[in-house]
Amino acid sequence: MVETAQQENSMGQLDIRPIAGALGAEIHGIDLSQELDDETIAEVRQALLDHLVIFFRGQDITPARHLDFARRFGEIVEYPLVKGLEGYPEIMTVVKLEHEKVNFGGLWHSDTTYLEQPPLGSILLARELPPFGGDTLFANMYLAYETLSDGMKALLGPLKGVSTSNLQRVSDTRSERMKDAAKVTPREVLTATHPVVRTHPETNRKALYVNGAHTCRFDGMTEEESAPLLAYLYAHQTRPEFTCRFRWEPGSIAFWDNRCTQHNPINDYHGHKRVMHRITIAGDTPE
Ligand code: SIN
Repeated sequence: MVETAQQENSMGQLDIRPIAGALGAEIHGIDLSQELDDETIAEVRQALLDHLVIFFRGQDITPARHLDFARRFGEIVEYPLVKGLEGYPEIMTVVKLEHEKVNFGGLWHSDTTYLEQPPLGSILLARELPPFGGDTLFANMYLAYETLSDGMKALLGPLKGVSTSNLQRVSDTRSERMKDAAKVTPREVLTATHPVVRTHPETNRKALYVNGAHTCRFDGMTEEESAPLLAYLYAHQTRPEFTCRFRWEPGSIAFWDNRCTQHNPINDYHGHKRVMHRITIAGDTPE
C-alpha cells in the first residue's frame, strides 16, 4: 500500500481541490485573465510544489495573458525541435488533426531531458478538444523513488542516465509536427547526462529521473546492459497508484512540475481535432 502525497490545503485565498491520491489538484477562485498580485502567485507556486501538477478551469485567456502568467514563474524557453505559434514563438501548439494517427508526446515522459537544463515545468492550455478522449495522465516521481527498496535506492544513487532526443519511440510522436514546423534537421541529435535520482531544488525531495521517451542508457554502460533495469523503472514509475488523470474542457489549464512528474497524453480520439497551447518555463541543471 502506497502512502498518498496529497494534503488538504485550506490556507490562503485559493480553493485547492486534490483530484487523486498521488498528485494533482484543481485550483478554483482565480481568474487568470487578470493581473495577479505577488501573494496569489506565491500561493499558486506553493500549490504546484505541494501537488506537482495543478489545474485551472474556464480560463479563456489570450496568448499574451498566457505568456504574462507564465513569466511570473520564470524565464520562458522555446521548445527546441518544433516552431511556435505565428506571432508568439514561445507558445508551442500541441495539435492532432482529424486525419492524423499519432499525437505529440504520446507516451510517458518528462519534457526534454536531453537538454543540460530541462524545464521547470509547462503551462498547457486547451483551445479545441475532441468530443471525448484526449485526457492527460500525470505521474508522481517522488512516490516512484520513495517506494523503491533500500537496496534499489542504494544501487541507483550514484548512477547517471543519458538522455537523447532521437529515440525512435518518441520521434514517431513528433512526426506530424516535424513535417510542417521543424526547427532542426531530423539528423541533429541533442543529448545530456543527468542523475538517475535528482533532488528537487525547491522541496529538497528526491525524485526518480529516468523516462522511457528520452533515457537511452546509464552513463558508462551500453544500451543492452541498461535496458533490463530501465524497463523495470519505466514500469514501476507509472504504476496506477502514482498517477492522476485530467479530463480537459475548453479553457482548462494544466501546470506541471517537470522536475518531479511525468505525463502521457492519451491517443484515443482518432478522427477528431485537439489543439493545445503550451508555454515552457526554464529549469536548472538537475543535481
Ligand atoms: C505534452 O507532452 O506537452 C503534451 C501534453 C498533452 O497534449 O496533453
